[in-house]
Amino acid sequence: MRPLPAAAAALLLSVAAAYYVYVPLPSSLAEPWKLMVLDAVFRTFLHVGNLAQDLGISHYVHVVNYIVSQVEIKGPRSSETVRVTDTSLAGVQARVFEPKGMDRRLRRAVVYFHGGGWALGSGKMRSFDLLCRRMAEELHAVIVSVDYRLVPEVHFPEQYYDALNASQHFLKPEVLAQYSVDPERVAISGDSAGGNLAAAVAQQMATDNSSSVKFKVQALIYPVLQALDFNTPSYQQNGDTPILYRSLMVLFWLEYLNGDTSFASSLLANNHTALDPGRLDAVETMAKVNWTRLLPPALRKHYKPVAPARGAPRIVDELPALLDARAAPLLAEQAVLRATPPAYIMTCEHDVLRDDGFMYGRRLEEAGVPVTHDHYEDGFHACMVFSVWPAKFSVGTRSLKNYIRWLDRNL
Ligand SMILES: *[C@@H]1O[C@H](CO)[C@@H](O)[C@H](O)[C@H]1NC(C)=O
Ligand SMILES: *[C@@H]1O[C@H](CO)[C@@H](O)[C@H](O)[C@H]1NC(C)=O
Ligand SMILES: *[C@@H]1O[C@H](CO)[C@@H](O)[C@H](O)[C@H]1NC(C)=O
Ligand SMILES: *[C@@H]1O[C@H](CO)[C@@H](O)[C@H](O)[C@H]1NC(C)=O
Repeated sequence: MRPLPAAAAALLLSVAAAYYVYVPLPSSLAEPWKLMVLDAVFRTFLHVGNLAQDLGISHYVHVVNYIVSQVEIKGPRSSETVRVTDTSLAGVQARVFEPKGMDRRLRRAVVYFHGGGWALGSGKMRSFDLLCRRMAEELHAVIVSVDYRLVPEVHFPEQYYDALNASQHFLKPEVLAQYSVDPERVAISGDSAGGNLAAAVAQQMATDNSSSVKFKVQALIYPVLQALDFNTPSYQQNGDTPILYRSLMVLFWLEYLNGDTSFASSLLANNHTALDPGRLDAVETMAKVNWTRLLPPALRKHYKPVAPARGAPRIVDELPALLDARAAPLLAEQAVLRATPPAYIMTCEHDVLRDDGFMYGRRLEEAGVPVTHDHYEDGFHACMVFSVWPAKFSVGTRSLKNYIRWLDRNL
């Protein structure tokens, strides 16, 4: 080939690649180019998955999880400091990280739920495995990383029940004794969809009397908490910000609740919030996600509520789980919130879920629950797990350090 066309082809290819990778990002976002590359990789996985689904080969979730498992899944490898075992708790898969050492004292513990839209990810993935190892080492605590079953094999409430059953099983006095765990010092935690499960299980276990042992604290990392308002200021502001796009979050919700994905456009328009005025609890329910009251002005900015007068109230009749606090913990009654343990909440400015976390923190405080809230102005969704090579972000390292430090001081 003559040099000129080759050079032109190379130029064209790199322009095309840059066009694919480039997304306009706000200047306050940490390390934008790294995030663009990370996002391009994630988008490619999703494109391949969608293509396979369109061709009728496989559900896109299976394809994405398959690709990820090829590079990311790790066996239960113990190290000098942490013993790692794969086990099951009440029939739910889990990976347990136990600090090694001669110490005879009872240890602290964290029950952890990984993120991934109730569909993706695993406690066996490199990023979550490394996270839990590090927690086990630094907190000298037993970390139980629960592999609840995922979409499309199961839908709500199965993920929730897996999380609840595993938690209730681990908190049995004889199981805690087996792991040498202090029953007074067990935390529940999770990120994103895992934060949703952690909040929901914390509510349930705080109010039922089935277990004598209670969680001491709850730590919710950029949690998903509601599906009634997809036009909170953070959804409006960050709809196109990697890596959790607004449309993807709506799709995760519909798949989790086993709803018709053709509802997506109605949900994006908040048409499902025009609750049937005949519903007795309509006003009360909407008040729990009323961000004009629950968010500080600095977050509301210039955004206006999207509250269609007519909309499509039948969506809620077809998908009643939209109003179920086990799916959407922000909808819990204040009396339930009041019973839950002291909370740590992490949120990121460049995340559609920012306001879910802020509203929950506010409602917990109103219920009298002590809340520590760390908000990252330069953070993006999922940043805390991106604190190890090759996807290492400064905000990832910082947020992880602060999370572990809070647990160390409060658990
Ligand atoms: C989990 O709990 C639910 C509700 O209590 C129960 O129906 C289900 O069988 C349990 N699953 C397992 C695996 O124990
Ligand atoms: C749990 O126990 C408390 C106090 O012992 C009691 O007031 C409450 O009704 C019980 N709740 C349930 C669901 O049994
Ligand atoms: C939300 O709260 C504001 C301020 O308290 C109130 O004026 C408004 O009517 C509420 N909106 C809804 C939909 O409840
Ligand atoms: C939302 O509901 C309104 C009123 O019923 C309707 O005109 C509009 O087309 C709906 N929007 C979407 C995206 O479904």
